[in-house]
Amino acid sequence: MFGLDAGIILIMKTISTLNVRETKKLAKRIFRENKKELAQKCLIFALQGELGTGKTQFAKGLGRALRIKKIIVSPSFTLIREYPFKINGEKGIFYHLDAWRIETPEEWLALGVKGLIKPGNVIAIEWPEKGRETWNKIFDRLPVKIIWVKLEHEDRDRRKISWNSKK
Ligand SMILES: Nc1ncnc2c1ncn2[C@@H]1O[C@H](COP(=O)(O)OP(=O)(O)OP(=O)(O)O)[C@@H](O)[C@H]1O
Ligand SMILES: [Mg+2]
Repeated sequence: MFGLDAGIILIMKTISTLNVRETKKLAKRIFRENKKELAQKCLIFALQGELGTGKTQFAKGLGRALRIKKIIVSPSFTLIREYPFKINGEKGIFYHLDAWRIETPEEWLALGVKGLIKPGNVIAIEWPEKGRETWNKIFDRLPVKIIWVKLEHEDRDRRKISWNSKK
């Protein structure tokens, strides 16, 4: 995934993690890469990957980066879970979404996703590919930075994780 974002060249970085701890650490690292933009934007982590590749583990790592004490659990049945956080004196809300059961753009709109997008908030979406067009519509002209993260099985405990990053 290459692209131009306000003149900045975006590249795909790839790493293999060997266990859950490394996946969580990588989530923290990717958050740190983008942290500066949180003041002006809502950071959206679009977590793509088959069942069991570690999307929820990655979201837990984001929770750690945001110093959230509450345990981040899979939002499968609730669709959206929210966790307030405070880092460096700034308050925000971390929303964890699971798009697995969502079928239509209208369903997302009905859930009020647009209202969650505010600078300082962080959103992690599992199964974002379920609503790619919807996201484009929802996020159009809103202050968002989308970080696409792709997780793949390599072997039992090894995951290949790719994400878009600045050069
Ligand atoms: N390197 C790794 N990174 C992340 N998880 C790993 C790794 N190695 C093994 N695992 C295991 O893989 C599983 C990942 O589960 P997780 O719930 O995060 O997947 P998921 O992508 O969210 O799945 P789902 O699509 O069902 O929501 C966990 O059981 C975890 O212990
Ligand atoms: Mg999950």
